[in-house]
Amino acid sequence: YTRAEVAQHRTPRDRVWVTYGTDVFDVTEFVELHPGGPDKILLAAGGALEPFWALYAVHSQPHVLELLRDYKVGELSPEDAAVTPGDTADPFAGDPPRHPALRVNSSKPFNAEPPPELLTQSFLTPNELFFTRNHLPVPSVEPGSYRLRVEVPGGRALSLSLAELRRRFPKHEVTATLQCAGNRRSEMSRERPVKGLDWGIGAISTARWGGARLRDVLLAAGFGEKSGATEDWHVCFEGLDTDATGTPYGASIPLKRALSGEAEVLLAYEMNGQELPRDHGFPVRALVPGVVGARSVKWLRSVVVSPSESPSHWQQNDYKGFCPSVDWDSVDFRSAPAIQELPVQSAITEPRPGAAVPAGELTVKGYAWSGGGREVIRVRRGTGMGGNGGKWLRAAAPAGTRLEIVCKAVDSSYNVQPDSVGGIWNLRGVLSNAWHRVGVTVTP
Ligand code: MTE
Repeated sequence: YTRAEVAQHRTPRDRVWVTYGTDVFDVTEFVELHPGGPDKILLAAGGALEPFWALYAVHSQPHVLELLRDYKVGELSPEDAAVTPGDTADPFAGDPPRHPALRVNSSKPFNAEPPPELLTQSFLTPNELFFTRNHLPVPSVEPGSYRLRVEVPGGRALSLSLAELRRRFPKHEVTATLQCAGNRRSEMSRERPVKGLDWGIGAISTARWGGARLRDVLLAAGFGEKSGATEDWHVCFEGLDTDATGTPYGASIPLKRALSGEAEVLLAYEMNGQELPRDHGFPVRALVPGVVGARSVKWLRSVVVSPSESPSHWQQNDYKGFCPSVDWDSVDFRSAPAIQELPVQSAITEPRPGAAVPAGELTVKGYAWSGGGREVIRVRRGTGMGGNGGKWLRAAAPAGTRLEIVCKAVDSSYNVQPDSVGGIWNLRGVLSNAWHRVGVTVTP
């Protein structure tokens, strides 16, 4: 079977198929017997089990594999692993296969987020379920011939192979959360329409990244006194993904951040202990912790130290915040700074909006995070508008009522989420970080 054929089997009516390795299983009869409940196993329907088993470690036992063997119906066709053949008119024809559990906001270019409850199933998001934000087709990079160009004024330009990047520079690892500026945009567009992909609360994920420190690479390229660079300079990144005119995706960060040992900016080639997946920038991406995802440029082809910010559209005319009164007739993108560090954020992943929850003690799950390396010092959850303090995870739910669960976080600079989107609404729907509200019904 091809992966596309497997992906057609996602409901008990169409039968529920999954893959493990190269084997294909029809687990329809097992859905109701699944110890974790039918809804959990259905998340994996039509795709690979591996990312879910990485989340739910209870599956790593021999008897689980044995049980699965009873449901085998075939194997994946060998050619399926190869790049999609044929349609040369479609620039996206060479995009990699994706896990069907991802909620797709746009398929070409591919933009998708994990179901919220998977974000809080484990601290690190498995690679296959990590949110994906692509503006262009995914480039196919031959790792053997890959070269990264590094330019520093007054220095010596470097052209690094993947092997050299791995060998010449100490590998540094950092656990970092990446969030798209458009995360939670759908809540802003409910207030007033905005332009942009309709992200829910899942355009955020966390991984352990491994790679060379950008600082080490810039020093090796001759960064120093002679470069004449001052603190207000920038490091510009360009990707290998290009639009129809050949213009690549690009973005920049302040030089100060790139050189700071504390900021831990990486030229990353590993994600959760594996080589970078194609969707996340194979073979090398910039990884800028605490900063809006847009600056962590994937499929990196060049790194240039420059007195000016990246001239790219995505640095100059996008990913900027404006006040609610600015509309598409009055907007002047030159008037606002490019988003770098993101503000404090939190959201509830469970229960889901509209859920019926049993009376009594209720478990609430969610995430809280802040940009710029600022720690979250407090998360308050409350019910109704009151906002009781207390523990994050459990709340009292009186029977027979409709309940609104609310959360807000405070970071170490005492920045706090605003209570509603009204005052932070902006025409691009970025930086949406109001208190997160989830309405549920309490059943007796
Ligand atoms: N880099 C390139 N080359 N092309 C892109 O489209 N998207 C950016 C950034 N880097 C992008 C890119 C945006 S807006 C985000 S939020 C992150 O990549 C998303 O990274 P991810 O897809 O690995 O989650």
